[in-house]
Amino acid sequence: MPIRYIPYDKVPVKGQAILNNITRSQRLLSYKDNNKVHERILRGIPYYELNELEQVGKESENLVIRGECLSACAYLKEKNIKIDLVYIDPPFASGADYAKKVYIRKNPKLAQKIKKAEEKMEMDELVAFEEKMYGDIWSKEDYLNWMYENLMAIKEVMSDTASIYVHLDWHIGHYVKILMDEVFGEENFTEEIIWHYEKWTSSSNSLQKNHDVIYMYKKNEKNIFNEQKEITKNLKDKYEKGYLIGGGFGSNGLVVYDKSKPKVIELINSGKYQVHYAESKGKPLSDVWQIPFINPVATERLDYATQKPEALLERIIKASSNEGMIVADFFGGSGVTAKVANDLDRRFIHCDIGINSIQTVRDRLVEAKADFKILEVQDGLNLFRNPIQTMDKLASLIDGLNTQKPEGINSFWFGTIVNSKYGTMPVFVPDLRDSTKKVLDIVAINEIVNKEIYNFDNFNGEVKKVIVYFVDIVDLAEIKKFIKENNQTLIEIELRDLKQVLDFVIVDDKVEFNLKEDGLFYEVEINSFYSDRLKQKIGEYNSKQALKSNANHISISEDGLELIEYLSLDCTNESGVWQSDSEIKIDKNGFVSINGTKTKEFWNAKISSNTKPKRLKIRNIAGDEIVQNLLF
Ligand SMILES: C[S@@+](CC[C@H](N)C(=O)[O-])C[C@H]1O[C@@H](n2cnc3c(N)ncnc32)[C@H](O)[C@@H]1O
Repeated sequence: MPIRYIPYDKVPVKGQAILNNITRSQRLLSYKDNNKVHERILRGIPYYELNELEQVGKESENLVIRGECLSACAYLKEKNIKIDLVYIDPPFASGADYAKKVYIRKNPKLAQKIKKAEEKMEMDELVAFEEKMYGDIWSKEDYLNWMYENLMAIKEVMSDTASIYVHLDWHIGHYVKILMDEVFGEENFTEEIIWHYEKWTSSSNSLQKNHDVIYMYKKNEKNIFNEQKEITKNLKDKYEKGYLIGGGFGSNGLVVYDKSKPKVIELINSGKYQVHYAESKGKPLSDVWQIPFINPVATERLDYATQKPEALLERIIKASSNEGMIVADFFGGSGVTAKVANDLDRRFIHCDIGINSIQTVRDRLVEAKADFKILEVQDGLNLFRNPIQTMDKLASLIDGLNTQKPEGINSFWFGTIVNSKYGTMPVFVPDLRDSTKKVLDIVAINEIVNKEIYNFDNFNGEVKKVIVYFVDIVDLAEIKKFIKENNQTLIEIELRDLKQVLDFVIVDDKVEFNLKEDGLFYEVEINSFYSDRLKQKIGEYNSKQALKSNANHISISEDGLELIEYLSLDCTNESGVWQSDSEIKIDKNGFVSINGTKTKEFWNAKISSNTKPKRLKIRNIAGDEIVQNLLF
């Protein structure tokens, strides 16, 4: 339950940011559920408590926030932190589910043996399975209502001279442009940037889709803009052929002239025009950016689906911010914005809902030697890695749930449970992938009490009871009272807490280890590692593979060390905020990074430190973490 709702500074005026009220040439741009969104805007941004999970490096204002964009904005507004530049690359409504490849690591004991025998490791024989990261499947209405609320909240935390860049593509970009006109004002629309890249399918019956769009708006009339130059291939060729490029004819006009043309030389010699050879090496940056996709073997590639190139963010950050300013990305993914902002001496805020993003950006920033803290939004739900995996998991967690709904039970219901006393009971589970549907409030329960339970007419057999799961509830007593006073049917409505279902099922990984010390050196040697969740996942993968002719079976050794991705020792705090004083990350090829520095060594199943460690943290290859206290 939110601590409170933080009001928006300016409740949108009629004809401005309320979709229902946009009237243009007598057409009405209005979406289903507009009223609900409007109510949410009037209510304010839900503000939840945030927990500090980790301090990396020195104290600083840089933040990595695990949670939703809305929650991060509520926090920033509450703390009066203003953002100078926002870049967001939200889900595109592309209709795709994004997955992460989970690579089984080299078993350290086996790797050592192979090394000793001087045998060549076959690096291309990596074994992997997939885990869902986030879904991008929306109806247009849901997407736009969700996006509208996010943009409204982001605007609340932008400084007066800030700019926002919103990265989208052909799926939904044009609709969001209209939303942005409403939220930020048409007069503040500054750029439509085309990111052009080369990629193609071998045969196709349509044109190749080779660009994304980035809409840029400023918050107010004045914003920061730093001019940049680019040398296009065309200009580069001209340089090489002995052409010179200069500026200064007339105002700022760019002139490309040829030494062989005496007239131009004469003009220059007359002293009337000034040509700055040095800084005019290139033409002012245009709004069409030719930046290649990150190549699969590039050092910046992090195996994060939808990862954007650093070169793209470099242009945005240089154009619209100065050193020391705060750059935020509320859909941060692999952390490209935070990384480039840090490289360019800006401060950063990275927010993302998925655990995989938080771990990826954390490790990326440790490697970049950045200082930051990691916060987690306490929004009442211990998400199972990310909302999409949680939803998938729920189907198997709710006892007796049959997701194949009988005819007559519409898609509002997640599934049904059958028991001898009540017969078929429809089950409602909030769609955790859509933040607008997460809280069980009067609006949501009203939909059930006054609409959905009347829809069982077609159902062959009487419904006596429905079960309504909730994650976050405004006020349980108030909801119960509402049901009592408003339920005109004989159907019983039972409320159940979804968190208990999730808490019950998540079994922590187990580790066995030995401790060694000589007063100056402390060592933890891992003997075995067991993950119930990974075991199940690999089991599922193997049974699917068994049906294929070229089956790729994954087998895990008895000690299970190939399931470990990361280890850290905290020598500072016994509990609370994690401080990583020594850490090892094992990459997909089995090589280790020690305290953020890459090596060509294989992991030796140990981690050590020079001061006495108090706790050990282990992350498995799918991102689940456990912490063990150490008794040296
Ligand atoms: C297209 S990806 C961003 C990729 C990123 N620009 C990069 O270069 O790696 C979108 C991200 O938004 C996150 N996301 C989805 N819904 C969110 C929400 N409501 N709040 C915060 N993050 C969200 C997803 O977990 C995903 O990492």
